[in-house]
Amino acid sequence: MDQDPIAGLRVAVTGGTSGLGLALVEALTQRGAEVGFVARDPSRVLAVSSAHDRAHGFVGDVSDKDQTHPLAMSLSASLGGLDVLINNASSLGPVPLVPLADTECEELEEALATNLVGPFRLTKALLGALSASAREGRPALVINVTSDAAVNPYPGWGAYGSSKAALQHLTRIWDVELAAHGVRVLAVDPGDMDTALHAAALPNADPASLKRPAESAAEIVALIERHVAAAVNA
Ligand SMILES: NC(=O)c1ccc[n+]([C@@H]2O[C@H](COP(=O)([O-])OP(=O)(O)OC[C@H]3O[C@@H](n4cnc5c(N)ncnc54)[C@H](OP(=O)(O)O)[C@@H]3O)[C@@H](O)[C@H]2O)c1
Repeated sequence: MDQDPIAGLRVAVTGGTSGLGLALVEALTQRGAEVGFVARDPSRVLAVSSAHDRAHGFVGDVSDKDQTHPLAMSLSASLGGLDVLINNASSLGPVPLVPLADTECEELEEALATNLVGPFRLTKALLGALSASAREGRPALVINVTSDAAVNPYPGWGAYGSSKAALQHLTRIWDVELAAHGVRVLAVDPGDMDTALHAAALPNADPASLKRPAESAAEIVALIERHVAAAVNA
């Protein structure tokens, strides 16, 4: 029987203790990937690490510049390199959601720091590891988790939506710039999911109308699988 293409992949996930990030840690480790993940709450990081073989948890805040290089080094050292980086951790900005006119500058800055500048810095710090993966004929992929709020002007979603729109365009430019190094950079909108983030934004939503995070995680794992197949056949 052919080996599972996900087995042995070295994957880093930001925000691996809840919602989509946790579902990704679960799906990827079950398939035999080595997964390094980051989140801020130490007790939840420990709980997820303890519950999953092949999951390596690190306490950290992706919005904090000073933590970028220590996190990048911890992630790549624990995995012995890096094939896939998933920038998933996210901030809504002001909660409850408010119109832009009522959004504090600091709230906009916080959304940009977590959703745009943090992924930019972490990706940049891990580019050496990703391009080494590509040189070894392994898949080298960055997935930035975006949202339909990046393209639709939903009232109240100004801080979050503008940060995700910028992340989406950063993704497109980086994908073109890194093509020569064999590194792909893709954006994925996981759809509306039943998670803590969604409940904080829209507390009255019917959870039954929302996707399970595991369903969106399976779609992302399938995307990674297609990328592995493309790298093998290149
Ligand atoms: N849920 C939806 O309907 C929906 C729709 C479209 C797109 N998305 C996107 O999907 C992704 C996952 O969202 P979700 O709904 O799964 O969110 P979630 O359930 O709230 O989980 C967020 C995760 O990120 C971590 N995190 C948050 N801020 C962080 C920071 N500054 N540094 C490190 N870790 C941080 C959280 O742990 P700590 O708090 O302990 O750090 C947690 O593990 C996000 O990019 C979101 O924008 C979600």
